[in-house]
Order: sequence, then structure tokens, then C-alpha cells
Amino acid sequence: MESVLVIDFGGQYSHLIARRIRELRVYSELVPYDADIEEIKKRKPKGLIFSGAPYSITAENSKAPMVDKKFFELGIPILGICYGMQLITKLLQGEVSSSGRNEYGKTKVSFNQDSMLFEDLKPLETCWMSHKDSVTQVPPAFKVIASTPNLPIAGIEDAGRKIYGIQFHPEVAHTPSGMDILSNFIFNICGCSPTWTLVSIIESEIDKIREKAGNGKVICGLSGGVDSSVAAVLVNKAVGDSLTCIFVDHGLLRKNEASQVIRAFEGNFKINLVHVDASVRFLDRLAGVTDPEEKRKIIGNEFIRVFEEEASRIENAGFLVQGTLYSDVIESGTKDAAKIKSHHNVGGLPEDMKLKLIEPLRLLFKDEIRKMGIELGLPEEIVWRQPFPGPGLAIRIIGEVTREKIKILQDADEIVIEEIKRAGLYKKIWQSFAILLSIRSVGVMGDERTYAYPIVLRAVSSTDAMTADWVRLPYDVLEKISSRVINEVDGVNRVVYDISSKPPSTIEWE
Ligand code: XMP
Repeated sequence: MESVLVIDFGGQYSHLIARRIRELRVYSELVPYDADIEEIKKRKPKGLIFSGAPYSITAENSKAPMVDKKFFELGIPILGICYGMQLITKLLQGEVSSSGRNEYGKTKVSFNQDSMLFEDLKPLETCWMSHKDSVTQVPPAFKVIASTPNLPIAGIEDAGRKIYGIQFHPEVAHTPSGMDILSNFIFNICGCSPTWTLVSIIESEIDKIREKAGNGKVICGLSGGVDSSVAAVLVNKAVGDSLTCIFVDHGLLRKNEASQVIRAFEGNFKINLVHVDASVRFLDRLAGVTDPEEKRKIIGNEFIRVFEEEASRIENAGFLVQGTLYSDVIESGTKDAAKIKSHHNVGGLPEDMKLKLIEPLRLLFKDEIRKMGIELGLPEEIVWRQPFPGPGLAIRIIGEVTREKIKILQDADEIVIEEIKRAGLYKKIWQSFAILLSIRSVGVMGDERTYAYPIVLRAVSSTDAMTADWVRLPYDVLEKISSRVINEVDGVNRVVYDISSKPPSTIEWE
């Protein structure tokens, strides 16, 4: 498989570079800047891209990340973006200085159209800049190929060695010709061909799964979310009857979710599906528990117990399917953050189960998985379902979880989803849902005093759940949700809207 590797120096747009190249149908992934150069060589990339970084390369004693100069001797074309261009300059004996002036935003950049990087582009284009340092002298053998009135050196090339640098960001939407520049680099300079398509990924993943699983039995924890569903269908295509999916209903799902998932799978696929209604077990264990971490731990442990009991009934099970995504892989590879919440993934891996992992979605982004789901024939209601936490409604009921509160929250949540869909916003919003607080407030309904629970409405936009912004929902949508929830859901007399972003808040309340 042809690939272009993005050497990641921690820039805020690094992931986006890989995505853009994938959109051009060439496989691309991030590699940390300190990865072993020999390992990189073994992968035979057709091109390398040095990303941006939140560091100054000019600062004395700086912690600015570096790479081995041997990169320039590999004979592989290199494109440095922002910090990447400054790094190339510094390593190859040019000069980078700090003007102390930030340049941030849209800028008109003049291109030298003789450069292969800018072939077929207009001579002047709007580009997105975000930098403080700049290249003030190009390295020997390099020439300047782009400039702005403020920045005489906005692009450099050594066409002989196929090493290029640009100070602006071609990967962001604010650089309208960015895709043309990336396309010139990967096709004309690196010589890639656009062969990486969803159909080709599906076929190669099916082959890989068959090879790995052989005649062994495979199990999959199915949550009904898009990731585990797509993984299950893909594995089913590869090994057919050897796969058994286990769907554990902990009684904390959204309204009618369990029946929807079962219908979707039984109706559309020939798949062995074990449906375990374990709600009584889970709700009994949660009785009287109010601490968020304790709730999460109880659910995580109980889930593993139920899952193991069911898995042990499947003879010779040797493999476990996980719907791990590329963003999970990147996150776990680079994150050394403090523990904020004990995340529990439905289908999460009990470490001592001794099953070998099959993770067919490891290299894909969420939107690619959604497209794959459609390609594989999964119904839209599964493919477009918003993310839902493993512990389910237990972490959206603040305080003790009771059957009464679950019913109230399910009913309120159903209205939220209906109205968000009706407003045409469901696919555009990362998550939109209801939360139930275990406090009560006074209201008045038809001359009667009420004393009932409030519902919190939460709607956030995000691309990877690491950061999120609250959505500016139209007032009429807010009004419709509020009046329907209060009028239609017994036990609720107030709706409030959560206007906090992440950070400093989190998406879920517990
Ligand atoms: P937070 O609340 O940490 O959530 O901002 C980030 C994203 O993760 C989801 N989430 C979970 N997903 N198991 C999961 O599978 C969990 O325990 C869990 N907790 C939170 C949350 O819905 C959001 O999309």
C-alpha cells in the first residue's frame, strides 16, 4: 500500500494533514517525530510531511523537537509545513528568526508557478498563516517559491532533492487552494496514485481478518454504536458463522435502543447475535450508589463479568473484535493526561481473557467508519447514531440511579433526539442529549404546585471529543424541546441548557 507519512511534531492540524491526503485517496498516517528512522524506512513511504508544532525553533535551550538529518538522505520527497519548514531550514543551515510578531489568519501569498508544488495554481492565493517565527535565509541549494508583503520567504524548495517547505497551512479550509498544493506534492512530486478507496480498504481488511482468525472462533461485544457495529459487520463478512456478537443490555440504554439494534442486525445480516438482558443485575448493583467513579467502576466490572460468562459458552473462542478507531490509537499513544474519568468501553477488553485482538478499524477516522458502514449496508440509524458512553444513562443521572429516573430520562432524551432531528441538526451535532439532576424545584402547572426534577439539555460540537463547544441552538428549537419535555414527561417541571465547553467542563456530567 502506497503511503505518505506525516511526521508529527504536535501541531494542532497534524491529524488534518493525514485526513486531507486520505481524501485524495492515498493512505496517510501520523508518526511521532521521535520514531525510529529505520522503522520509517521499512515502511517505504512515497513521501513525508513534517507537521507544524507549538514550539519556537529559534529559542535558546528550547525543547523544540528535532529529527535526524538522515531524513534528508533517504531520497524520499519531503514537505515541511509551518514549523516543518523552519525545521528543514534550521537543519540544512538556513536561518530562522523570531520577529516577535504573530501572523495569524488569511494572507495573500504569491506563488512561483514554475515550482512543481504550485503547478496550475493562480499566481496569488489566499492562505492561512499561524506563526511567530519565520525563515530569514534559505539553506544552500534552496530557492524561494512563495512570499507575502510581510514575509519574503513563505515557501522554499530544493527541487533536486525534492525537499519543499511552506509557511502557511494547506490542510485547513481557509487555504482554498490547499488541496491542489497537497495534490501536487503527493501525485506529481511523490508519484503516488489515488488507489486507496473504501472498497479497497474493506477488501484488504477482510483478507487480513481471514488470515488472522484462520478457523478460530471470534467474539465481538456489540454496543449498537457505529464503531462496534461496523467492526462486527466487517468481521462477519470475513469469517461468517465463526463470529458471535454479544450484546449486553445493562438497562441504561436510550429508549428502544436495544430493540433497534437487534432489529438492525437480525433484519440486515446473517449474524450470530446473543442478546443478554442483564438490566436487573446492573440496576441492583447500582442501588444506593451516588459517586460517579463508583458507578463507572461497578458498571465496568459487571459488564466484564456478564461478557465473560457469555463468552465462556462459545467453544474455542480465540479472538475478540474491538471497534478501536484511529483517534483512540493516537490518543493512547501520546496521552499522559491525568485521569479525569474511568472510561468504560462496551466490548472493553478484560485483560486476562487471553483472547487475541482483531481491530479492523484501527487505521480509520470516525467519518471514514461511517462511510464504510453505509458501504457495508448498515442502516442509517446505526451509522449516524451519535456517540453514547459505555456506562449509558447511569452517568447522565446525577445521583442515585433508579428505575423511575431512568424512565424519566429516556422519555426526555427521546424528545431531545426527535426535535434535534426535526430541526435537521442531528448529523451536524457531535452529541445532543438530556441529563437528569437529582434535585427538585418548584413549578406551577394548571394552578397546581409542582415539585419535580430538572432536565439539563446538552448539545456539543466536536471532531474527536477531546475538545467540544456548546452548540448555539436556535431559540425555537430550545423552546420546542423545553415545552415538550415539561408537558410530556411526568416528573419534570424545568429544562435548563448547558452552555459550557470542554475544557474546562467535560461532555458528560459524570
Ligand atoms: P467526556 O465526558 O470525557 O466524554 O468529555 C468524551 C466522550 O467520551 C464519551 N464517554 C464515554 N465513552 N465509555 C465510552 O465508551 C465511557 O465510559 C465514556 N465516558 C464518556 C462521551 O459520551 C463523549 O463522547
